[in-house]
Amino acid sequence: MAVDPHEPAQQAAARGAAFSVAPMMDWTDRHCRYFHRLLAPHALLYTEMVTAPAVIHGDRARLLGYDAAEHPVALQLGGSEPDELAEAARIGAELGYDEINLNVGCPSDRVQSGRFGACLMREPTLVRECVAAMREAVAHLAVPVTVKCRIGVDDQDEYAGLAGFVEAVQASGCDTFIVHARKAWLQGLSPKENREIPPLNYARVYRLKQDHARLTVVINGGIGTLAEVDEHLRHVDGVMLGRTAYHEPYRLAEIEHALHGTPLPERDEVLRRLRPYVEAHLARGDRLQHITRHILGLYQGLPGARGYRRVLSEQAHRADAGWDVVEAAIAARHAGERSLRAA
Ligand SMILES: Cc1cc2nc3c(=O)[nH]c(=O)nc-3n(C[C@H](O)[C@H](O)[C@H](O)COP(=O)(O)O)c2cc1C
Repeated sequence: MAVDPHEPAQQAAARGAAFSVAPMMDWTDRHCRYFHRLLAPHALLYTEMVTAPAVIHGDRARLLGYDAAEHPVALQLGGSEPDELAEAARIGAELGYDEINLNVGCPSDRVQSGRFGACLMREPTLVRECVAAMREAVAHLAVPVTVKCRIGVDDQDEYAGLAGFVEAVQASGCDTFIVHARKAWLQGLSPKENREIPPLNYARVYRLKQDHARLTVVINGGIGTLAEVDEHLRHVDGVMLGRTAYHEPYRLAEIEHALHGTPLPERDEVLRRLRPYVEAHLARGDRLQHITRHILGLYQGLPGARGYRRVLSEQAHRADAGWDVVEAAIAARHAGERSLRAA
């Protein structure tokens, strides 16, 4: 009998293992999440990071508004002040977010100066206090509080730094850690370089799960293919995809299909299911481009994909651009495919 390579992943999914799309600033806004939801009904979707003061004092409709179809959706917060984070978590939970996540992984300068993000890997006691305050603030709604971190920063010890951090923070009651499997180097690398240069070390994340079987451990960093998802789910409870999910979003449908048996949708069909959403937002005054910038990679790797992207890039920014631009992009893709076949 043929062996199903997805079986361990399916078993993990049946146990409740999450597959999720990472928080990504400027990328995973509400439009992006709505589109990803069409591709992956079971994925857990994360917002961009929002700082606790912005949640408390900012324009909540703009920063925190989302569509009911996005559930399950997690709000990622940035901060290091327990009272502020607790207040922001409460606001997020009361707005209906399904999870509140604390960012302990982002290495940008702006974030370091506010003493949050990856530099907090060095301050597990403070993170424990933050998470404890957040958990207390959302306990009435039973919303989980999770932490997204790195395997370490700078010259921290290879494994003890991560284990020590997690052990301290779990004392707050937090039982879910999403670990980006590379260190952050806080000096000398840009945020982008910090997502590429420090080497990935998946084994350290697997070991965290082995040593702390009770915790839910989700692995992140450099994951793109179904085979990789299958392999990781033999070792940990969940996988989180960032850049690949954004640049090649159809991968989400393929993972969804493998883990949950959801039928693979046609790409054109996915776009047509997006139409009512697009038209509702255009009617409210949103620009087409703000939505279509997230769908450029849908046909990645298929013949005609370039023509599709070109129509969207050239036409979606116009003030009066409407759904017909998306139809024109779909038509350009088909035309490109036909001419490649004929050649
Ligand atoms: C454009 C961009 C913005 C990001 N913004 C955030 C963020 O707001 N919060 C966060 O925790 N990580 C952020 N990240 C990191 C991702 O969540 C993820 O940890 C990282 O990209 C590694 O996963 P990947 O290799 O699958 O992309 C960002 C990454 C990118 C590419």
